[in-house]
Formats: sequence, structure tokens, C-alpha cells
Amino acid sequence: MKPWSPDSWRDHPIVQQPEYPDQSALKEVEKQLNSAPPLVFAEETRSLYKQLADVCEGKAFLLQGGDCAESFSDFNAANIRDTFKTLLQMAVVLTYGGKCPVVKIARMAGQYAKPRSSDFETIDGIALPSYRGDIINNFEFTEAARIPDPNRLMTAYHHSAATLNLLRAFAQGGLADLHQVNRWNMSFVAANPLKEKFQQLADRIQDALEFMEVCGIVSAVAPSLKETDLYTSHEALLLGYEEALTRRDHLSGDWYDCSAHFVWIGERTRQLDHAHIEFFRGIKNPIGVKVGPGMKPDELIELIDALNPDNIPGRLTLITRMGADVLPEKLPALVRKVQEEGRKVIWSSDPMHGNTEKASTGYKTRSFNNILREISQFFAVHKAEGSYPGGVHLEMTGQHVTECTGGAYGLSDEDLAQRYRTQCDPRLNADQVLELGFLVADLLKDARTKA
Ligand code: PEP
Ligand code: CO
Repeated sequence: MKPWSPDSWRDHPIVQQPEYPDQSALKEVEKQLNSAPPLVFAEETRSLYKQLADVCEGKAFLLQGGDCAESFSDFNAANIRDTFKTLLQMAVVLTYGGKCPVVKIARMAGQYAKPRSSDFETIDGIALPSYRGDIINNFEFTEAARIPDPNRLMTAYHHSAATLNLLRAFAQGGLADLHQVNRWNMSFVAANPLKEKFQQLADRIQDALEFMEVCGIVSAVAPSLKETDLYTSHEALLLGYEEALTRRDHLSGDWYDCSAHFVWIGERTRQLDHAHIEFFRGIKNPIGVKVGPGMKPDELIELIDALNPDNIPGRLTLITRMGADVLPEKLPALVRKVQEEGRKVIWSSDPMHGNTEKASTGYKTRSFNNILREISQFFAVHKAEGSYPGGVHLEMTGQHVTECTGGAYGLSDEDLAQRYRTQCDPRLNADQVLELGFLVADLLKDARTKA
């Protein structure tokens, strides 16, 4: 195998990349980015790696979530705060239900590049190049807007830096206080149509917190009651950007992609001989790869060996996205093969991307029921195969959008028009995320008591 370097991916075939009309402007921006400060530090990334090793060994659970595509226009403090809060609220419920630590990774502070199933989008007979995420072009449906613009790499970098700055402040500065998080959960439960179903769990968490307080376990002596670790992630699709932020760590001599703590390869760019696999094999971050219904057991082993040749726990997360109907048929053979071959991976369920459908009102949507069904089946398959269901990966927001149907408030196809805001895939709204949290907590509890 040829030696690896941050740019060795350039000698490999690659798909899903923009064609920049002005190559010299692109080179100039990549150069600037390469001398800009890293967004995350290797040491933080190593601490996530350790936590993911615990997930791999069945001692913790992974919660990953955020927008399908972050956008420059939705970049504001309220959005960042609300997604952060919602992730935390779900994490508390899962921690209590599963009686295990929950590792939180946001799809934030860099989730700006999107793979597309078609190079063109046609509206009213007009075909224009597809929108590929705000780091590449503009969502607006005009010819000029859809031209890839290298300056957007710099804008994405600055937006990511500011987002991370606020997330770090929230995580350490009091917003993550467990008492507060559970108070938010109590008000969610009180207003929810399925109140009876969730009240008991929320009350038990409240009791536990009050009991600890009586025993003197308060945030002054136990900082973990008011602080948390939140890591960032995105699909590392636009390799020129990722390369520019890849740095050699002086302590270990290893290379880290410092655009985020965790990066993953999408379903459309994981061809074994292609550029994304080449880039990922050389970085020391914990990484993920999406696994769709077309994956064959032998191919999966080859993919695992390309990305984690030393079989290190925590290095590789397989994010399965099969579709609720297809999963029971396809996942068991993959899990069995990985078990037989002794490969150490985290299995995480993305119940979103295999369940996208078109609503009768024309919107791209997903139903809460199918999302829950895929997660339930994911847990059932792992139970049957004796492996550990290590996490969930959600497209979600803390806002009250109407993009996915169903849930306790029974959003219908007609309701979608009210607040359909996504520039890409439909996200679960804050209520739907929490409802899912309470339901997944039961599944996790069951998985962990039988383990
Ligand atoms: C995504 O996570 O937004 C995505 C595009 O997923 P996938 O690669 O699984 O289609
Ligand atoms: Co998506």
C-alpha cells in the first residue's frame, strides 16, 4: 500500500464533489484554511475515542444528532442552544433508562456538505445543478446561486468556529445542569398527550436528583451535575476542506482531522478504492461509515479492515440506515459476520435515511412510526445475535418544525406546510426527539438488563 498523506486521496477516484469554475481561487482558500487554527484539538478527540471504546464494549451508549444540513441562514444562538438542549434532554432520559453513560456527539459545527442522489434539480421544467450544502453553493433556485463558490469554505469554517465556541460555553457554563435539564423534561412530559406513559420515568429521575441533593451530592462537589462533554461531527464529504484542516499532533506525531472530533463517510462515497476511504484511513479520529441495505457481509469486512486494520475498539462506528421494512432482512447477516470475524465495531442506528418518503402534499418527509420501527428492529436484531446496539444517529432540531409526520401530536401530511424549514432532509422536532428518547430508553433498558 502506498504511503498516506493528507492529500493522498487526490490520486483516487472520487464522487459527489463540486466542480469549481475558478480552481485558483479554490487553491487560495484551501491555503488560507490550512494556516488557520484547528477547530478542535487532538486531546479532545482522544478523549472521545476513549468514551467510544466504552460504547464498543457495551459500557455506554452513543447519541448522535443534529441537522441534516446546517445552513448559514439558520446560524444563530437560539438554534444552537435549542438543539443542544434537546440532545441533552434525550441523553438524560437514556442515561437513566439504560443506567449507563451516554456519549453525546452533535451533527453540528461543520455539517455543511451534502451528497445528492442527482446532479440536477428540476422545477417547472427548469434544470439547475443541485444544492450541495452551504459550504458549496446556495440553496436558492437560480443559476448563479448554484455555482460552487470557494469562499463558502471560509464562511463554513468561521460559522463552525462560532458554533463550537457557544457549544463549549453551554456545556461548561451551567446550561447543562442536570436539575435544569430534568425540569425541561418535566414540562415536556406535562404538556405531552402521552403524559401517562412518560410521567413515571421523569418522576423517577426527579426523585433521584432530589435524593442526591439531600445526601449533599450537589454541583459544588460533583461538577458532572452541571457540566457535560459534547463532541462535534459531520460527514467529511468535501475532502479539500478536510485536508486543509488536517494537522499533525505534536504529542503523538499522528494526523487528526481537526474540523470536528468525529467524522463519517456517507453511503454514497464509501467505495473501497475511492478517495474517502483513502483519506479516512490515515486520520486518527474516531470515525463512522454509513451502511445501507445494499451492503454484503464480505464487503463489510473489507471496509472494516480498510478503516480499522488494527481492530481498535472505538475507532469505527457502523451507522446502519436500512429502512424499517428492510432492516430485519439485511442486518442479521452483517452482524453475524462481524461477530464471527471478531471485528470490534460500534453499531449505531440511523433510522432516518432509509425511511424518507413523499407526503401526499408533496413534501419530503419521514414518519415517526417508521423511525421508531427501524430503531426497535435494530435492537431486536442485536438481541437475537447477541451483539450490542450501541447508539442512535438522528436528524433532529430543537425547533418546533413540522417536517416529520406522526408522534404524540399526530402531525399529518397537511400539517407539514406550517413550519417546513429544512434545506435538505426532514428532521424530528423537539417534541418528537424527546418522545423518541423516552421510548428508546425502554429499549436500552431491556438491552442492558439482558446483556
Ligand atoms: C446524511 O447523514 O445526511 C446522509 C446523507 O446520509 P447517507 O450517507 O446515509 O445517505
Ligand atoms: Co440527511
